[in-house]
Amino acid sequence: MPEQTLTIALSKGRIYRDTLPLLAEAGIEPKDDPETSRKLILDTNRDDVKLVVIRATDVPTYVQYGAADVGVSGKDVLMEHGGDGLYEPLDLNIARCRLMVAGHPEVAARGVRLRVATKFVNITRRYYAEQGKQVEIIKLYGSMELAPLVGLADCIVDLVDTGNTLKANGLVPLEHIADISSRLVVNKAAMKMKSARVKRLVKDLEAAVARRA
Ligand code: ATP
Ligand code: PRP
Repeated sequence: MPEQTLTIALSKGRIYRDTLPLLAEAGIEPKDDPETSRKLILDTNRDDVKLVVIRATDVPTYVQYGAADVGVSGKDVLMEHGGDGLYEPLDLNIARCRLMVAGHPEVAARGVRLRVATKFVNITRRYYAEQGKQVEIIKLYGSMELAPLVGLADCIVDLVDTGNTLKANGLVPLEHIADISSRLVVNKAAMKMKSARVKRLVKDLEAAVARRA
């Protein structure tokens, strides 16, 4: 890729869908649709801007190592990653939800050391450590809501939006950990080396976000 290319990392699905209109307002439009194309690097209407489409949890890593200059990532993913090597200049206010502890209604009364199933093991460890509570954390990669139903865990740490998934499985939200939305992240070296272009993108996206507020 030419040195002056600006590479933007996005994940398929919700984040791509919600970021696309903001990028369009910033004058960037992809030439391919990642839902139908097998291409991993997408050209845009701008010769000097490319998109890379990767797993949501990989976005901070690509940006941290400079494989992408900027990216869009959920705050949950950033909290779990730790944010090393990244600036987080803008809240895009998309993909909003809450990170919560959830479980069967009676779980709060259990005096025993809780088993907590989650894909957010770092966040969960920190959350309970701050409360001085000892818990056993079980790492899962998805469908966390199943864990309390089959006795794998007492509760879960997961994202909640409408609450429909919890409700459909007889679970309730128990504790609020954080409000979540997606953020623009920037590689620290790119912020210096491609300063003018990154700042321009941040400014354009900021204006697009403000127009929706
Ligand atoms: P991966 O493919 O790496 O496992 P994922 O399946 O969690 O990631 P998405 O479901 O597209 O990826 O979620 C991307 C981001 O969108 C999450 O990190 C979170 O910030 C936000 N998000 C997840 N679920 C919801 C939801 N139900 N409502 C609103 N935002 C959500
Ligand atoms: C997310 C999250 C919950 C659900 C919450 O899953 O992991 O299961 O959304 O949303 P709700 O409160 O509106 O029901 P998602 O739909 O992204 O599925 P995935 O994580 O398995 O991809």
